[in-house]
Amino acid sequence: MNVRDSEHIIAELKDENYKLTDDITQADLILINTCSVREKPVHKLFSEIGGFEKNKKVGAKIGVLGCTASHLGKDIIKRAPYVDFVLGARNTSKIKQALKTTKFVSTDINYDDSEYAFKEFRSSPYKAFVNITIGCDKKCTYCIVPQTRGDEISIPLNLILAEVEKAAKNGAKEIFLLGQNVNNYGRRFSNSHEKVDFSDLLNRVSGISGVERIRFTSPHPLHMDDKFLDTFVNNPKICKSMHMPLQSGSSEILKAMKRGYTKEWFLDRALKLRKLCPEVSISTDIIVAYPGESDEDFADTMDVIEQVKFEQIFSFKFSPRPLTFAANLEMIDDEIASKRLTTLQNRHNEILDEIMSAQMGKTHSVYFEELRADGMVGGRSFSNFSVMVKGSEELLGTTRDVIITQPKRMALIGELV
Ligand code: 5AD
Ligand code: SF4
Repeated sequence: MNVRDSEHIIAELKDENYKLTDDITQADLILINTCSVREKPVHKLFSEIGGFEKNKKVGAKIGVLGCTASHLGKDIIKRAPYVDFVLGARNTSKIKQALKTTKFVSTDINYDDSEYAFKEFRSSPYKAFVNITIGCDKKCTYCIVPQTRGDEISIPLNLILAEVEKAAKNGAKEIFLLGQNVNNYGRRFSNSHEKVDFSDLLNRVSGISGVERIRFTSPHPLHMDDKFLDTFVNNPKICKSMHMPLQSGSSEILKAMKRGYTKEWFLDRALKLRKLCPEVSISTDIIVAYPGESDEDFADTMDVIEQVKFEQIFSFKFSPRPLTFAANLEMIDDEIASKRLTTLQNRHNEILDEIMSAQMGKTHSVYFEELRADGMVGGRSFSNFSVMVKGSEELLGTTRDVIITQPKRMALIGELV
């Protein structure tokens, strides 16, 4: 979502005649788009902008954007007085105003830009990120996002479809729909709107000419009803990769986290999906050592991993975040937390090695997007494996069958069929 927010900002600035540069010493304006989901990136912010201040050319402005901008607001300028403006997530459409106003700070998490038509900029010609909702209505006890991105609002269907049509006309064959809880799409709009849900949206997007592949993130396990699974499985343009953020395999911990589902519900959905769609790859997010997590609770998480055999796991130690309920709970000893994280990651690596080895000799349909320095061209299979072949730029933007000759843990190497 931050990548797309950055594209929005770049588009607005191009409209003001700015050009992109990677060279800080040349820049008239230096922007940093921040995340606040875990503690580490927040710490990094201040050392990073300190470096900007040292290296920037005289008169260059520095702006801090994103979720940490939302949550720290004017305190950023207090701590780093050389920062010229602070623009919270969900306030990105005010960038032109920020440039023109001294020490502009805007962090209103209720600011509604769901109908703002951003100017057009895309960092990839092959794939288009398209926001479909802003904010999040869930109140997961560990998560700062509702405090930085505000309540969930769906972007009107006609705006989304128009954006997809434009991107597809410009050559993007893959559309990547974005939101905190995409499968809750249509629950609330700013203005009156026809009744529509995420399955309807997927079907409408897949009807647009030029769209060959559709991906989305993140869906919420709670809203994975049969209609959604049915659309996912049966629409041939929807890539067969599903992100299912588990967070914990223990029903007790899930309840404490206010996730709204149980271990049994999660397993039912994931295993049903595997049955309906054997080629699907399933990824997940897991937090270990949430306050109160016992050995038995952690064993439940490991049990879900054994049963679902995720293709990809993003795993984190619990990190207490300000403005959240869990911030004040008693932390689990860090040594135990680290041990659990290692246990989980080691077991996942073993599972992953098995999954990847099993791809040997299989054929995948790969959409190529990336020319690499090592003479390889990279892309994604329909089920989201990273695949590389020897080749050159003619492959970019094409979809080709690839037979896998060398499976590795992080990517599959193959040859064009
Ligand atoms: N501590 C650790 N991980 C967190 N996440 C969100 N908040 C926290 C936190 N306080 C993780 C969740 C989420 C992912 C984007 O980041 O797993 O799905
Ligand atoms: Fe955070 Fe939960 Fe919303 Fe995801 S669903 S953004 S974890 S509050």
